[in-house]
Amino acid sequence: SNARGRPDSREKMTSKSVRVVLLGPGLVGRAVCNLLKSSRAIHAQRHGLKFDVVSLIDSSGYLAESKGIADETISSALAWKQSGKRMKDFQGGSAADMKSALSALDIDPSACVVDCTGTDATTPFLVESLGKGAGVVTANKKPMCCPFEMYKKMMETPTKIGFESTVGAGTPVVHTLNHIIASGDKIVKIQGALSGTLGYLMSGLQEGKAYSEVVKEAHKLGFTEPDPRDDLGGMDVARKALILSRLWGSHFEMKDVKVEPLFPERFASLDIPDFMAALPELDEEYAKQVQQAEKDGKALRYVASIDEKSCVVGLKAVEKESPLGRLSGSDNLVEFYTEIYGNKPVVVQGAGAGDAVTAVGIVGDLVRVALAK
Ligand SMILES: NC(=O)c1ccc[n+]([C@@H]2O[C@H](COP(=O)([O-])OP(=O)(O)OC[C@H]3O[C@@H](n4cnc5c(N)ncnc54)[C@H](OP(=O)(O)O)[C@@H]3O)[C@@H](O)[C@H]2O)c1
Repeated sequence: SNARGRPDSREKMTSKSVRVVLLGPGLVGRAVCNLLKSSRAIHAQRHGLKFDVVSLIDSSGYLAESKGIADETISSALAWKQSGKRMKDFQGGSAADMKSALSALDIDPSACVVDCTGTDATTPFLVESLGKGAGVVTANKKPMCCPFEMYKKMMETPTKIGFESTVGAGTPVVHTLNHIIASGDKIVKIQGALSGTLGYLMSGLQEGKAYSEVVKEAHKLGFTEPDPRDDLGGMDVARKALILSRLWGSHFEMKDVKVEPLFPERFASLDIPDFMAALPELDEEYAKQVQQAEKDGKALRYVASIDEKSCVVGLKAVEKESPLGRLSGSDNLVEFYTEIYGNKPVVVQGAGAGDAVTAVGIVGDLVRVALAK
């Protein structure tokens, strides 16, 4: 054994090269590059793997180097992007759409395409890359929520695709579900708080703050999207719920997920300042719901509830003493109820957002996909 007590046999001498093609060199993409760099020794020693970032692709074009882009060049390209500039204008960059960028690269089994964009435009390319034997890892939820027929295609080679970071950032929610499914234990129900922003909101309401007050506070602190309706509408949670439901085995489409937005229909067409100004109209209604839950010994949470027949996202009063009931703040938490675990669910909890934790999920997936036979 070595100093840490690990058997030396786990330290591989030979190295397998993986060519990483990064779509979306933004906040998360940058954290992935940093983690790949700082984990180089671990990847070589423990897993016999060497990751080389061979291309950075944004919506304007790409930078590519078949032997791997040098660390300093990656750093300058990421800083370039961070300052709001485009890949096509970076030294050595080329203007191209995603189709031409990817066809200029050799997408083969030695490549892994990492999707750190937030667009569904990447979906056909992920499918195509898997078809060529490449690996695919995505933090982008949209491709995993594509029409079911296409999803099925992506999942034909389940060891080649990783999407841990689409649910609960790097927190191993997807891994845990896969693990339970693999055991043969039968899942009965999945229930989770999958939005840090809405977790923050629900905690604030429970403390007695007004709905409008907490939303404004979260907006000011940058905890919400620029338009808070993107969080309050529940669509982001709905996507995560669909991903878990499909992984469990449903054939649901996005339209099958029932979503309760935290604002009425008539608020949807307002501009942002008018929306913010109208929020106090909702204070009484939400305060009432929180108080009613409290009276029943429960806590109100924004929850994704998934069973074999349905996938529902919205407010739910949960037992105060349950894992979800005890949750406070912006953490994500998922309860997996199974036949063998009975009424004591398997619980996974951790940060549900943040570029660095998201990168943990992505790089963990990259290692798994690279080691898959
Ligand atoms: N941040 C988090 O905590 C977190 C956690 C879990 C999952 N995620 C997911 O991770 C993804 C990335 O998030 P982020 O925070 O890193 O966003 P971001 O900083 O906005 O980065 C997105 C990147 O994608 C590029 N891009 C946009 N459209 C593109 C296209 N059509 N083709 C190629 N590149 C394109 C953008 O550059 P241009 O617009 O200049 O092309 C930008 O570099 C999202 O799907 C998000 O939901 C994020």
